Amino acid sequence: MKVDFLGDPPFVGGCCCFAYRSLHHSLARVLCLVSKMLAAASAAPTRTLAPSATRPRAPAAKRGAAVVNRATASDVSQKEKPDWAGDDLLSKVVDAAINNKVLYEGLMKPMARRTLINTAEKNGVAWRDIAARLEKDPSIQSHFDAIKNDTVEYPEYYLKPFHAYAEGNLCWLAAFEAEPATYSMALRVYPKDRITAEAAQSRLRDSYTDALRKHHDEHGAGEPKTILDVGCSVGISTQYISNEFQEAKMIGMDLSPYMLAVAKHRDAGVAGAERREWVHGLGENTGLPDSSVDIVSLAFVIHECPEKATRDLMTEAARVLKPGGTFVMTDNNPKSEVIQKLPPALFTLMKSTEPHSNEYYTVDIEGMLRESGFGEVHTVDTDPRHRTVLGTLNK
Ligand SMILES: C[S@@+](CC[C@H](N)C(=O)[O-])C[C@H]1O[C@@H](n2cnc3c(N)ncnc32)[C@H](O)[C@@H]1O
Repeated sequence: MKVDFLGDPPFVGGCCCFAYRSLHHSLARVLCLVSKMLAAASAAPTRTLAPSATRPRAPAAKRGAAVVNRATASDVSQKEKPDWAGDDLLSKVVDAAINNKVLYEGLMKPMARRTLINTAEKNGVAWRDIAARLEKDPSIQSHFDAIKNDTVEYPEYYLKPFHAYAEGNLCWLAAFEAEPATYSMALRVYPKDRITAEAAQSRLRDSYTDALRKHHDEHGAGEPKTILDVGCSVGISTQYISNEFQEAKMIGMDLSPYMLAVAKHRDAGVAGAERREWVHGLGENTGLPDSSVDIVSLAFVIHECPEKATRDLMTEAARVLKPGGTFVMTDNNPKSEVIQKLPPALFTLMKSTEPHSNEYYTVDIEGMLRESGFGEVHTVDTDPRHRTVLGTLNK
């Protein structure tokens, strides 16, 4: 497993509202866009701390803590979604710019990658060190061999380039960089607070598990025994949820055996690891028995899926959940002021590396959940950028 860290690019998220009359004759504009992208990406204040492992806090049940809605009123807009997604003119202009391969592949993508890594490292996320350590570790390949299920069939949407990895999530580079990318993402949620990447990660995750704990305590059928974390990636969401619900067995499921191999490696020796299982599988067809799970979680997964897959994920969740079980998802909040006002360079980049953005920002998640058999459906603005949508399977 040999990867080229400084070669081909990974992801970001973000772009531009310029009048691109002729993309082929707009070098000046491209440079302007790239410089905006660089400025925006490196704007975060410097913080220190190299994340090593997830260190979740005590569970809410034990803390007796009140659930806090982390977003403030000013974080949420009256508009339903950003103008740069969906059918708006701006969105179409951005899509046209992205589809210009010379502009995107030749210039934006490599610069985005370099900027992303450099900014992360400046902010204390040891991006290349973390990835290089994983690359050298021989246990990763054996985890991969043990976890990979050759009968898994990848849906067509999953095989597209994603987060600027040509092979999407199905490669070592994406898996080795997933943890530092996740820590960098957490830092971007709280740009004004001079907190470490680890503190940002905990704040982000705790707001999610708080919302889940509150909903499940109010509407669920007692302390969960089995929790399915679909799209668990390298296991950060799985560990936080597992720590909140310490009586539960956790199934971390993902379509990428590369991600799961890293998840297994990261989990070794971590408290509660014996309760966590890493399964190579498709969220739309998990192979789990009917009515066998108490909570299904999808953290930061739906934005990677087209609308049909989102519906299928909900249908499968309804099948495997016990009556009274909880569905929970979190992802970018289309109503977030921060998301709606992202600088052009950033939203162009985000759209260019996440091919299902237009569908994600326009789909009615709450309505789809109700249609899939869930009640008590509601949304919590868990932080300035993200929403968490919850529902309970009708009895
Ligand atoms: C952004 S990561 C989410 C990471 C993780 N849940 C967290 O909160 O840190 C999205 C993950 O979803 C996985 N994924 C996407 N579509 C999937 C599907 N249909 N079934 C299972 N996993 C899927 C991808 O392979 C990727 O690892």
